[in-house]
Amino acid sequence: MQTVHTIAELRAQVIAWKRAGERVALVPTMGNLHPGHIRLAERAREWASRVVASIFVNPMQFGPNEDFAAYPRTLPEDSRQLAAAGLDLLFAPGVAEVYPRPLEAMTQVIVPTLPAVLCGASRPTHFLGVTTVVTKLFNMVQPDVALFGEKDWQQLVIIRRMATDLDMPIEIVGIPTVREADGLAMSSRNGYLTAEQRAIAPTLYAVLQATAERWRAGECDYAVLEEQAKTRLAAAGFHPDYLEIRRADDLQRPLLEDIASPLRIFAAAWLGRARLIDNLAIGI
Ligand code: PAJ
Repeated sequence: MQTVHTIAELRAQVIAWKRAGERVALVPTMGNLHPGHIRLAERAREWASRVVASIFVNPMQFGPNEDFAAYPRTLPEDSRQLAAAGLDLLFAPGVAEVYPRPLEAMTQVIVPTLPAVLCGASRPTHFLGVTTVVTKLFNMVQPDVALFGEKDWQQLVIIRRMATDLDMPIEIVGIPTVREADGLAMSSRNGYLTAEQRAIAPTLYAVLQATAERWRAGECDYAVLEEQAKTRLAAAGFHPDYLEIRRADDLQRPLLEDIASPLRIFAAAWLGRARLIDNLAIGI
């Protein structure tokens, strides 16, 4: 596996592949890789003959009081894992390569409406940082296809909308959430949990599953289901940020007539220093 740190080296390689008629997939990440990320890299082979992963801890998507400085940076170990997964190229640029000018002086890509709800309600500038950096990564790599995890469902929906609205000739593929044996969604932030908190953490998924089950059993009062689920999370030791049932495709609140359309339940909750997120389909 080749590792490059500059846009010029990246482009030289991708252009050579494209000239040879190869299809290129991109798996954007912030590193500190776990089996969820590796699954994306493996699945990418189904769509392309060459797979590029990027590792870039993107300062633009962290709020002023968030964990940008503390976010784990583990490039040598990440690089070993990607090589073992058969990746062709790792792009790991420094901040100055991606943002040669101060962040506030850089052009931004803003998707309207979708970023205002769920995670965006408590992280108001997060998704503009995501859409800006993903646009830049798309322009740098020029992939035919890009893969994103369903664990960050809102991010996936926003990126799909952005690619559609801006006519980006890139297929956006969503990959189901990879979980620990006890159900906890794998996340780089799980490393922030103490042993005691780690034992509690799977309750988040358990509560989502139980709520989905009740919905399938015919309890259709969203507000009651949401309140009871939040109470269960708080009783387990979480500080719930949100827990909401929304339409899967546009993240709007379901109307009565949406009862048979694809819905998902979304949650974010603090457990100590870690803000955990998860989501689940609650279809019939
Ligand atoms: P990061 O959190 O590193 O995640 C990189 C990709 O891995 C995302 O598409 C995310 O949804 C996916 N992923 C994370 N945990 C997963 C799991 N348990 N199962 C399946 N997929 C999982 O998301 C980002 O980085 C950034 O916002 C990024 C898109 C790279 C832009 O900076």
